[in-house]
Amino acid sequence: MKEKTQVGIIGAGPAGLLLSHLLHLEGIDSVVLEARSRKYVEERVRAGVLEQGTVDLLCDTGLGDRLRREGLVHRGIELRFDGRGHRIALSDLTGGRAIWIYGQQEVVKDLINARLAADAMIHFEVGDVRLSGIDSTKPVIKYRLDDREHVLTCDFIAGCDGYHGVSRESIPAGVLRTYHHEYPFGWLGILAAVAPSTEELIYASHERGFALHSLRTPEISRLYIQVKPDEDINEWPDERIWEELSIRLATNDGWTLTYGPVLEKGVTAMRGFVVEPMQYGRLFLAGDAAHIVPATGAKGLNLAVHDVHKLAEAFIAWYRKGTNDLLEQYSNRCLGRVWRVQDFSSFMSLMLHRYPEDDGFRGRLQHAQLEYVCSSEAAARSLAENYVGPPHV
Ligand code: FAD
Ligand code: DHB
Repeated sequence: MKEKTQVGIIGAGPAGLLLSHLLHLEGIDSVVLEARSRKYVEERVRAGVLEQGTVDLLCDTGLGDRLRREGLVHRGIELRFDGRGHRIALSDLTGGRAIWIYGQQEVVKDLINARLAADAMIHFEVGDVRLSGIDSTKPVIKYRLDDREHVLTCDFIAGCDGYHGVSRESIPAGVLRTYHHEYPFGWLGILAAVAPSTEELIYASHERGFALHSLRTPEISRLYIQVKPDEDINEWPDERIWEELSIRLATNDGWTLTYGPVLEKGVTAMRGFVVEPMQYGRLFLAGDAAHIVPATGAKGLNLAVHDVHKLAEAFIAWYRKGTNDLLEQYSNRCLGRVWRVQDFSSFMSLMLHRYPEDDGFRGRLQHAQLEYVCSSEAAARSLAENYVGPPHV
């Protein structure tokens, strides 16, 4: 089967779907190829914190109806240590900016609905995706669907296929410089059918390790605890997870954590990863395909959104005005923010997690940093400014 499109997009995560939507609004055609089923991508539980800039872009492009109705605006977060909570007043410290709680899978559902309502081509459950001719003017994606071989010829390819995708691997050896850092910890996350025991997110530093109390809705909580990067989830029956959470989140003033049925659980390793440049020939990488940040800063999804915003602008300039500049500058326009976020996510991770090899010195530094952030307005403002994220420029 021979097919043609303007932009071939690999991956129906937030990056690929949003790119397809932004291009559609400008009359540019795309085909999205996704290895998993629609049900799988719509149910995969991941991020929950949207920066103001992400929300603004979604709302400005017609994706804000349910987000405005069901999303929860948060104007502060809590840092908890020594059994006490300290509020970081995000909005007061950033001229009124805020974050929104709205599950990544809800963003994905909204995007899929919007794309399908506009008769978009999204192919789920494709196999054996291969890229060729990425240094030519007519790159090609070959894939299998329903036992048939397809050949999709494109003007450009967007590799939005996440960290384990095939796009990045299609770039010839020696072109990309890869930066990689493994953190010596992971997160065990649960989604639970219980009202959150907090109104704002709690990031807790405890001698037994980091814990995070987040939420999705007034009825659904999302919580995480620091574990080993290769922790065996079978070692963690639900009761043990709740007990550990309640120890790490405990305060001196009698606050209690309400337990409830666990709907989903999983372990994620924490890593930092960046490739430079994020492009080669007619292939452009976006989102987790190009970079991963440790989850402590709540930034991965937001960075993916920023990348495709810049990539859409570049494609639009090429199709509308015939100009190449924004395509050539794509990687540079993204990498400044990528490294800012990498630094912030590293700062949050280093401040809040226990280090297995610590002889006590690192712990004292972490404590000094927490006290500084919670007592100096300048330090709190720096955290807040990074947490809410700068506007997209
Ligand atoms: P993905 O969502 O990974 O999408 C890539 C898609 O490509 C997938 O659907 C995949 O199936 C598909 N694919 C892969 N290979 C192929 C192939 N060969 N052919 C076709 N399709 C393919 N970020 C935040 O901003 N805030 C948070 O609060 C936050 N919390 C997180 C908590 C956890 C536990 C985790 C794991 C992540 C969190 N993140 C957070 C990160 C965020 O989820 C990711 O950064 C985001 O999913 C990146 O989107 P993406 O579209 O680039 O990649
Ligand atoms: C969530 C995830 C994060 O990585 C984070 O830093 C805060 C909240 C969440 O899933 O709600």
